[in-house]
Amino acid sequence: MSRPIRIALTKGRLEKDTVGLLESMGFDCTSVREKGRKLILPVPDAELEVVLAKANDVITYVEHGVCDMGVVGKDTIMEMKGKFFELIDLGFGRCRFALAAKKGSDFYSGYGIKTIATKYPNVARSFFEKKGMDTDIIKIEGSVELAPILGLADGIVDIVETGTTLKENGLEVIEDVAPISARLIVNTVSLKMRQAEIEKLTKLIEEKLK
Ligand code: PRP
Repeated sequence: MSRPIRIALTKGRLEKDTVGLLESMGFDCTSVREKGRKLILPVPDAELEVVLAKANDVITYVEHGVCDMGVVGKDTIMEMKGKFFELIDLGFGRCRFALAAKKGSDFYSGYGIKTIATKYPNVARSFFEKKGMDTDIIKIEGSVELAPILGLADGIVDIVETGTTLKENGLEVIEDVAPISARLIVNTVSLKMRQAEIEKLTKLIEEKLK
């Protein structure tokens, strides 16, 4: 017998929201809720196996087909791209990519090349390329808000949810870049080979999201 459909969930908030969604569909997710340090959890009545992973790894596992499906933010999808199908906008994990700078800094003034700090260099690059604007992009790993405060960058491209982090650090949104929410992604081969099982699950999810 083949293994259950394997779904990779982004650890943390998206994991909680996805478990909430599966439970609202009537599936018992006790194994995920009481996971301890385990990383692969069975959800037998959904014929699913849940794998918990970091966002970038969700995409890697789905792309390589070791997980059939995944739940990951559009932010990670936009940054990593990759070969898989993006099937459903799950509606939770809503936030946005935005360009932000020091309050009152008049970001677009002047002719010099702007320096942008970001955890998402591909997203930032393509945003400014579409504008025909030359930029220096600097990759930062965490708390990118520090870069303009320390004088490293003119602006940042980052995730904004409530706006509190920007506000508390004297920054403001200059322009929205793209909306973000959690997406259900599927491996291209799995979608062909296990079409019936995947369609059954995605139909149930779509019904629930209506
Ligand atoms: C994100 C983002 C901002 C913050 C925005 O970081 O990089 O720093 O959330 O949220 P807000 O608009 O509600 O203040 P996150 O907390 O995900 O941590 P990270 O730096 O580890 O990515």
